[in-house]
Amino acid sequence: MGILDIDIPAWSIDLIYGNTGSGKSYFAGWLVEQAWEKGRRFLILDTKVRNHLGLVQLKGVRLLKIKVGTRYNWRKLLEFDQVLVVPTRGTINRIGVEGLVEQYYKPLLDEIFRRDRDRIIVVEEAHRYNPSSRRPGKELEQLFREGRDGKLYTVAITQSIADFPKLLFRQAQRHFIFQHYVPNDVIYLNRMIPGFSELNDQLREHDLIEFIPPNRTRIIKRELVVRRTRHFG
Ligand SMILES: Nc1ncnc2c1ncn2[C@@H]1O[C@H](COP(=O)(O)OP(=O)(O)OP(=O)(O)O)[C@@H](O)[C@H]1O
Ligand SMILES: [Mg+2]
Repeated sequence: MGILDIDIPAWSIDLIYGNTGSGKSYFAGWLVEQAWEKGRRFLILDTKVRNHLGLVQLKGVRLLKIKVGTRYNWRKLLEFDQVLVVPTRGTINRIGVEGLVEQYYKPLLDEIFRRDRDRIIVVEEAHRYNPSSRRPGKELEQLFREGRDGKLYTVAITQSIADFPKLLFRQAQRHFIFQHYVPNDVIYLNRMIPGFSELNDQLREHDLIEFIPPNRTRIIKRELVVRRTRHFG
């Protein structure tokens, strides 16, 4: 049992955002650890090679490394309950995160939307799934829709919230917000979240704000977010 009282509901749409290095992935990994303890099903789409690798220390977590040029049977993959998907270094060198998302992760999300239920889907660099800041990507929009119907639980992570489509932003059930110092982001969040600036000013590095629309906010101190596995961010 954790000392931090953030629950893992049956379903949700969680958004995690903040500047680079603020603690988004560390916290997402913490959420996954909580889900694992409860025996929940999950799948993480990572865009970094190492980042979440510590999570495979958890018994039963299956690791899939995406190697460019290889074809994958997504249906087979979804037979596993707890999955971490990461690119190899070579994949990133050859096709970049953009290629990884386009060629592998978007088709996988589509397959999840079609067949999978009762699973937490963690999407790193979620802004990359959208064609523009105005238009949500189809795969992400579908996933959020299933979230509203209580079938899939999405955790979307982004470092550029002002560029994240408002249509998706408004659908989030919970927001986990780390420090922001890019003026454009602060202005944007001031419009979207009651009292944002004051809260943001109180945050130390790796502290976060939990925001539950329309107006519930609280600060969560970094000491409360304690990982059981190693984070390589
Ligand atoms: N609550 C915490 N306590 C201690 N260390 C933390 C905490 N949160 C984050 N860190 C450390 O801060 C560093 C950055 O964290 P993390 O990798 O989660 O950043 P990020 O927001 O995901 O960055 P990026 O946008 O670059 O992916 C890591 O070394 C991580 O271990
Ligand atoms: Mg990260």
